[in-house]
This record gives sequence, structure tokens and C-alpha cells, in this order.
Amino acid sequence: MLAQQRVVTPRQQGTFRSGKACVRPARRSSVRTTATLKVMISGAPAAGKGTQCAKIIDKYNLVHISVGDILRDEVKNGTAAGKKAKDYMERGVLVPDEVVVEMVKSRLAQDDVKMQGWLLDGYPRSASQAEAIEKEGIRPDLFLLIQVPDELLVERVVGRRLDPVTGAIYHMKYKLPPPEVVDRLQQRSDDTEDKCRVRVATHNANVGAVVGYYKDVLREIDGTKSMDAVFEDISAALDEAITKKDPLEAYCKDQPAADECRVYE
Ligand code: AP5
Repeated sequence: MLAQQRVVTPRQQGTFRSGKACVRPARRSSVRTTATLKVMISGAPAAGKGTQCAKIIDKYNLVHISVGDILRDEVKNGTAAGKKAKDYMERGVLVPDEVVVEMVKSRLAQDDVKMQGWLLDGYPRSASQAEAIEKEGIRPDLFLLIQVPDELLVERVVGRRLDPVTGAIYHMKYKLPPPEVVDRLQQRSDDTEDKCRVRVATHNANVGAVVGYYKDVLREIDGTKSMDAVFEDISAALDEAITKKDPLEAYCKDQPAADECRVYE
């Protein structure tokens, strides 16, 4: 006989491996969430990190932490950190750890990140940066490395345009902006061919050491495919990581939509 009957939403429903019904705590919205999934995304300049991060947060609701964006904001606001970072960024080399490491650690300690999980974009970029968060016990469930040959990167960098209003990333050949936003588009000051080559060299000099820390969770992604095809590969890697971390979440996301359902304990 049934001991108890409860009404739950589809998001709350799931089963254990035994097939027995179970319930999980209610979520605040119907947006698909991924508990506290922790993801790092890495790749050379213009490999497509920002483009893919926009798609990832839209689908997976992780908190996007872009170190490049945070630094650009600091520079724009003329903060002490921004003043220190400006020259390094202009030259396309790494900003010193004393500026970056604490910035990242304190962002990762905030409540939204703890509740939603994180997507860390552009950190760590050196062995010392990886070491700094290893010491804090901060490790990703998945390390995505977008691979694009050097010769494609310059074209992507110089053709990139940014919409300061929406944050959208366009490309004058690969992702054309709608005509109504063209006049307000901006180009980053480090998006020149010369600076791109320095940034690529900086990346290439450091990436091996960084990847060494995350071999167990590394997933290399072919970044030469179309933006949508790259996202399909990334989605597959994320779904796998979710299943590994939280089999119940994986079960719930695949359930057909319904207003409510009944489970029995
Ligand atoms: P950051 O802002 O992180 O720059 P980056 O790593 O050089 O990467 P980008 O933002 O240039 O490229 P992306 O991979 O996001 O490519 P996107 O998606 O835009 O860092 C800037 C600077 O900050 C650094 O140089 C350093 O000085 C400093 N810094 C940052 N992190 C630091 C750290 N941890 N420590 C110290 N210093 C740090 O795509 C590029 C273009 O290609 C776009 O136009 C897009 O439309 C197009 N595109 C994207 N995907 C595709 C595709 N599949 N096919 C065709 N086109 C594509």
C-alpha cells in the first residue's frame, strides 16, 4: 500500500538506480540548472571562448566569470587593479598574478557562484595561477580546451566587433551583425594583428603547463567547426559531466514537460 502521496513538479521528480521514485528539493525556476557544476574554458585568443560561453550560460545557467571582461571593466573604471592591468593588456601579455588571483578567488566565493555553479573563462593561464586555486581546493568538473590553429586566429581577431549595449560578439565575415547595430559596434584595442600574435605566443607558452593540472577532466574541442557545431560538442561534454556528477539531474532534464506529476514514497 502507498504510504504517502505528494504532488511534485517534473523538476523535482527522479528515480534512484533501483527504479524507486524519489523527490528532490524544489528549484526556484523552470530553467534547467546544473547544481554546482564547475567548468573551465580555455583556448587561444579568438578561439571562440566568449562566443561559446554565451551559449553555455543560456542553456546551462552557470555563472560566467570572464577574467578578460572583469579586467576590462577595472580598466574602464580606473580602479587601482585596472591601472596596474592596463599596460599588460595593451601589450597582450599576462597581467601579474597579484592582480588576477585574488580577483578570481573572491568572485568564486560569492553566493550566486556557489548556488549555480561556475564557468571560468580565461583562468588559469599559467602554472602559478593553477597552483593558486589548487591550494584552495578549487577544481573543475570539466576543463574545455578549444583548439584552433594559429593561422586562423588573426583573421578572427581583426574581424571581431562587439556590441557595447548587448555584449554580443560579431564577426565581419563569420557572424554578421544586424544592420541596426552596426554603427555602435566597437573593436577591442588589443584586436590588432601584432597584438594578436603576442597574445597567441603567450597562450602557447603557458597552455601545456595549465592543462597538466586538469588532465583527468580535460576535453579538447575542435574550434575550427561552425559556432553551432562547436556548441554541440561542448554540450555533449557538459551533459556527460552532469551525468557523472549528478545522475538525478541528468534524469530530470530528459523528462517530458508536464504541469505536475505524482510520485509515491
Ligand atoms: P581575454 O579577454 O580573455 O582575451 P583572449 O583570451 O585573448 O580571448 P578573446 O576574448 O580574444 O577570444 P575568445 O576566445 O573569447 O573568442 P570570441 O568568442 O570572442 O583576455 C584579454 C587580456 O586580459 C589578455 O591578453 C591578458 O592581458 C588579460 N588576461 C585575461 N585573463 C588573464 C589571466 N587569467 N591572467 C592574466 N592576464 C589575463 O571569438 C573571436 C571572433 O571569432 C569573434 O568575432 C567570433 O564571432 C568569431 N568566432 C568564434 N567562434 C567561431 C567559429 N567557430 N567560427 C568562425 N568564427 C568564430
